[in-house]
Amino acid sequence: MKKSTQTFVTDIEAIRRRAREHIRRGAVTPDYQGDLDLSLKLLNEALATEIVCVLRYTGHAFLAEGIHAESVRTEFKKHAAEEQVHALRLAARIKQLGGYANFHPEGLLTRSHAEFTEGETLVALIEENLIAERIAVESYRELVRYFEKTDPTSRRLIESILQQEEEHAEEMASLLLTLNPEQRPVNPDRESAA
Ligand SMILES: [Fe+2]
Ligand SMILES: [Fe+2]
Repeated sequence: MKKSTQTFVTDIEAIRRRAREHIRRGAVTPDYQGDLDLSLKLLNEALATEIVCVLRYTGHAFLAEGIHAESVRTEFKKHAAEEQVHALRLAARIKQLGGYANFHPEGLLTRSHAEFTEGETLVALIEENLIAERIAVESYRELVRYFEKTDPTSRRLIESILQQEEEHAEEMASLLLTLNPEQRPVNPDRESAA
């Protein structure tokens, strides 16, 4: 009992000593177990993906035409606003880790996982956004696994964004089904199970 208490006190003293070193590094303490450069690169790629998603949804809101355009436009604008919040939260985390949140348009599409695509019809626009959401879902799941053991704060941030991307994907799939009941949303598992 006494031994474990002593170890704990020693640890606290070590933490206090380390906290005084490199204080300009803010939230980044020496026990950060991840590869900080790689973490910042991955977070900046996620940031670029979100910026591209803001641009794509916003552009699509103005491309949407036809009898169902109003409800689709409303949904696109709502998603654009939510993607912007994701971008800001990622940028804040990058800054917290002492990195540079890259909003520069140069190289944006190279850094982004999702593409900037357009479409000729309302259905094509929704399909493009559903594809982009599915890309986001898969890459955020990978990021959750990357941050799992090394950076719990980034992991929680990515998990909460992932949750909203899954909602976005489901909303796009429902919209697609509403406009085009004969076309089932992309879901290979359901197709193979059928
Ligand atoms: Fe997003
Ligand atoms: Fe999204």
